[in-house]
Amino acid sequence: MYGICKLKIFIRHSHGVDPRYSGACAHPPRSGWRPLHGVTTTQGAVLPQPIRCPRKENYKSQYAPRRPVRRRKAAPQNSSRAGVSLSPWRARPLRKSRAGAGGPSAPAAMALVATVAALLAALGGALWLAARRFVGPSVRHGGGDSGLMHGKTVLITGANSGLGRATAAELLRLGARVIMGCRDRARAEEAAGQLRRELRQAGGPGPGSDAGEAGEAGELVVKELDLASLRSVRAFCQEMLQEEPRLDVLINNAGIFQCPYMKTEDGFEMQFGVNHLGHFLLTNLLLGLLKSSAPSRIVVVSSKLYKYGDINFEDLNSEQSYNKSFCYSRSKLANILFTRELARRLEGTNVTVNVLHPGIVRTNLGRHIHIPLLVKPLFNLVSWAFFKTPVEGAQTSVYLASSPEVEGVSGKYFGDCKEEALLPKAMDESVARKLWDISEVMVGILK
Ligand SMILES: NC(=O)c1ccc[n+]([C@@H]2O[C@H](COP(=O)([O-])OP(=O)(O)OC[C@H]3O[C@@H](n4cnc5c(N)ncnc54)[C@H](OP(=O)(O)O)[C@@H]3O)[C@@H](O)[C@H]2O)c1
Repeated sequence: MYGICKLKIFIRHSHGVDPRYSGACAHPPRSGWRPLHGVTTTQGAVLPQPIRCPRKENYKSQYAPRRPVRRRKAAPQNSSRAGVSLSPWRARPLRKSRAGAGGPSAPAAMALVATVAALLAALGGALWLAARRFVGPSVRHGGGDSGLMHGKTVLITGANSGLGRATAAELLRLGARVIMGCRDRARAEEAAGQLRRELRQAGGPGPGSDAGEAGEAGELVVKELDLASLRSVRAFCQEMLQEEPRLDVLINNAGIFQCPYMKTEDGFEMQFGVNHLGHFLLTNLLLGLLKSSAPSRIVVVSSKLYKYGDINFEDLNSEQSYNKSFCYSRSKLANILFTRELARRLEGTNVTVNVLHPGIVRTNLGRHIHIPLLVKPLFNLVSWAFFKTPVEGAQTSVYLASSPEVEGVSGKYFGDCKEEALLPKAMDESVARKLWDISEVMVGILK
């Protein structure tokens, strides 16, 4: 009982209380503060019960009720505890009778509205998907002209899969001689064979073979290029310079995404090494050929995820700490800074360079991402519904490689075949210059 006094409500024992209860305790008022409960103060506030008198004999006084009595609400007549009317006239559950008198209750109406809304959304989604899938992807690069790239040589890195493969197919259809720069010859040959078959099935005249046999729809050539090896990049470029008289378009497309910490043959962090440094060396070694083939174009495939990256010059190899998402974003930011610096250096040469983001595309890029087995079907469904197909994703690459609309345009960032704004960190000229200088040293152009 004393615990009740822990409410710590102290009022003066005989001062400040309602006169009716001034005798709640028969003991003479004492000086100091005492706990007293269940009385009305002169200010009108009722203090909690029970009254506790410090002297035990007065505890049960008539002014001090022992315990507050909690009264139960009386049960309604003719009803049982289960809420069912016992009256022969009202044999329905009470809840229902309360709701049913004047039409549907608010929760029922809300459920109805929610069901109708869900059905409408599902119907709309199905129609949208049907339109997207069965009407076919919108080709926005305006490349209906099958001869647009006739006589032009295009090099695409990572052309055996995803965006690179779709870009190769489209440029082949436009009549280009397409060189597929791939790290795995067997995979590249397989992709090349499929592309040729697809083109024939689509009613095209059929591209030439690896050996260089000419075909009206263009020509496919497979060459080995591993961007994770500077030795391979050098060997590839040497072969290109020896065998190819011209290079009209270079598409830096190959990429690796959020892999575990790995190093390239030369000891660079893998994503920075492949996505930026490998392409940096490749482009620099082919610049002479591009200049001699001018007007020529360089197209760089970056990503919107550049926004989450920063160029941390102190740890470009991520030896102090490694975060796979950050490193991917950093490599894609490096792609943009490289493009802008190269555009500045190429002014007046008639060689243009632009960078793009393809959107979110359903490709093999996420091969290093682990998706739990149970979630996979859902992920596949969502990606099927909402991601771009490789053909859709390749539209901006094809546009920048072939469209007359971007003749002479350089140093710009594109998405969905339109120029887009960049964040200030991607336009920082001093960072771009510093990155260029450091990259030159890293790949061994400058010792
Ligand atoms: N998919 C998207 O949603 C998306 C979004 C934004 C940006 N991107 C960018 O788009 C580009 C193409 O990616 P994707 O989506 O088409 O992915 P993908 O299907 O995985 O294609 C990537 C290509 O890069 C090649 N590659 C990887 N490492 C290489 C290396 N060391 N040397 C040479 N080639 C190498 C791959 O060859 P293997 O087949 O032999 O591995 C493959 O051909 C990438 O730069 C990526 O960052 C894609």
